[in-house]
Amino acid sequence: MENQQRLAAMAEPLLAWYDIHKRSLPWRGTRDPYRVWVSEIMLQQTRVAAVVPYYQRWMEALPTVESLAAVDDETLMKLWQGLGYYSRARNLKRAAQIIALDRGGRFPEDRDGLLALPGVGRYTAGAVASIAFGQPVPAVDGNVLRVAARVANVGENILDPKVKKSFETWMESATPTDRPGEFNQALMDLGSGICTPRAPKCEKCPVKAFCAARAEGDAEGYP
Ligand code: ADE
Repeated sequence: MENQQRLAAMAEPLLAWYDIHKRSLPWRGTRDPYRVWVSEIMLQQTRVAAVVPYYQRWMEALPTVESLAAVDDETLMKLWQGLGYYSRARNLKRAAQIIALDRGGRFPEDRDGLLALPGVGRYTAGAVASIAFGQPVPAVDGNVLRVAARVANVGENILDPKVKKSFETWMESATPTDRPGEFNQALMDLGSGICTPRAPKCEKCPVKAFCAARAEGDAEGYP
């Protein structure tokens, strides 16, 4: 099987696995772009378990993009305190002002529009476009790169921007059009719970049947 075929073959079994094993997280079960966006910004540099209480507190204080656009900086910083990388909080407020004041409260609905917002990079734009708006675009972070490199058995340096770009292209064609947001979140759950950097739990993996690294007995050799 070619690399791209292996990646495209993941969607069906991965989604079936996700339906049973998905983590229950407070930003799931909604397609509200505001909630999805805030969660993805928090998750950029902070682990899931650490984000959960911050996210819940934030949503109680600032439930809408309009409330974020209007928040005073002291409250903003208090809500963010402990998450680090404070530019993320400042960019959230700047972007909220653009959305609330210049766009009548409407989020951009595709990747390019989202990319134009302060603090939104390719990964976050892909995550929000797919989860909130059902756009079939990938959200490729370090976890997804590791999973894809193993499944497709590509031993090149995945930190090389050119290699990353080709993975993005492959993942774009592997993303199912009917459930793109769930596919992306299934990859995140697979990367954090099963296809881990060390000692991956290949026995439990829903895509082990077409994982090239596993076929070669060397999943761990592919970070
Ligand atoms: N990491 C980044 N985005 C995530 C999401 N939506 N769910 C779980 N982990 C994530």
